Amino acid sequence: MAVGIPKGRKKALEAGDIKNIPVHLSYEGKTDEVEILKLPYSPSIKIRESKKNDKDNRLYQGDNLDVLLELLNDPKVKGEVKLVYIDPPFASKSTFKSRSNRHAYHDFMDGGQYIEELRKRLIILRELLASDGSIYVHLDNKMAFHMKIIMDEIFGEKNFRAFISRRKCSNKNFTRLNYGNITDYILFYSKNQKYIWNRPYESWDEENMIRQYPCVDEKTGKRYKKVPIHAPGTRNGATGGEWRGMLPPKGKHWQYLPEKLDEMDRRGEIYWSPTGNPRRKVFFEDSKGIPKSDIWLNYRDLTNQNTETTGYPTEKNLQLLIDIVSTSSNENDLVLDCYCGSGTTLFAANKLNRRWIGVDIGDEAIKATIKRLNGDTDLHGDYVNKRKQKNKQLTFTDIKEQAFFSLFTNDTTEDS
Ligand SMILES: C[S@@+](CC[C@H](N)C(=O)[O-])C[C@H]1O[C@@H](n2cnc3c(N)ncnc32)[C@H](O)[C@@H]1O
Repeated sequence: MAVGIPKGRKKALEAGDIKNIPVHLSYEGKTDEVEILKLPYSPSIKIRESKKNDKDNRLYQGDNLDVLLELLNDPKVKGEVKLVYIDPPFASKSTFKSRSNRHAYHDFMDGGQYIEELRKRLIILRELLASDGSIYVHLDNKMAFHMKIIMDEIFGEKNFRAFISRRKCSNKNFTRLNYGNITDYILFYSKNQKYIWNRPYESWDEENMIRQYPCVDEKTGKRYKKVPIHAPGTRNGATGGEWRGMLPPKGKHWQYLPEKLDEMDRRGEIYWSPTGNPRRKVFFEDSKGIPKSDIWLNYRDLTNQNTETTGYPTEKNLQLLIDIVSTSSNENDLVLDCYCGSGTTLFAANKLNRRWIGVDIGDEAIKATIKRLNGDTDLHGDYVNKRKQKNKQLTFTDIKEQAFFSLFTNDTTEDS
């Protein structure tokens, strides 16, 4: 079945053009993109946050397919979303309950149905993204690999940025005859080649720092590493000529003009080897940290007794979301999570002065999100102490009753 292959490409394939054959995932019931964008939808329930600081933040309760289709007609949202993070059900064939044993959500879809339902939402999300926007999709080993192919189809392989492996929990005392599963995955795509990127860094540990910056400056005591002072390629100008009576090595040029090299030397930034070869000193104190890689080890989910949690079953690590939001959006940008659960993404976005839109279908999720945005979380595992009364982070009071009313009566709350 050749569903999803553009007509022009199909013809080229039939004519024997076998170069750059794109890969498609084929399954029964795969709908045409154009049809998906024209699907009918039911009006959604919108629970709107007070316009604090003029921020137009929104929380919707309903099937996100309906809400996303509706947002396609909203000029404030279509093409304006800078960051999407979603953490959909993982096809785990499980039912999830909150810590207080209330039903949160079912996760029974799998196979082609799962892929197609998520694909529909991803196609609409692509349309909602701004031209410099990005999307992060959090999955586990059940569906991440199928969805990688689907996301290549939707966003284009050239816009694939990273397949992040996250350590989700500590090593367990595994009894099964298998390796312990402690990883899940985040697929990161940008809408285009130019996208928001505030480079994230990880901090150095002592051992790594000493290995990377092995030298200590005799005068200042500052730690540094030595790097070449020349770069490949010949130059006709001053950087290709002599400096201190020395020519750059064959086929290379000085990285800086001779005056600049003199200045660096005066400042003690040049290391001279015993045989008189200059090298540049790169000081540890100027390092912003280690540029972050695609293996994330420091964002385990909430198992620590002292960690604050909403009690929602699949709540993700808050710092994970804070770091994603900081990296892939700027202040006042619009962030969207249409499987928002307990509102981790929305809370992170709010904290970082981004605007946000959250969607979830479940009562328990919406309640957890509102509770959390009101600054209300518990200490995980702390069933004895009374709930901590926190300072309110965000005022939901002016919509609170309305929100709860609409939640439990299914009334639609109009935009004010
Ligand atoms: C894994 S949880 C998200 C947890 C969230 N990232 C957090 O930190 O709390 C998945 C969420 O998707 C919601 N969900 C599932 N299907 C949905 C749909 N069709 N529309 C909206 N929400 C949906 C569930 O109610 C559940 O809260």
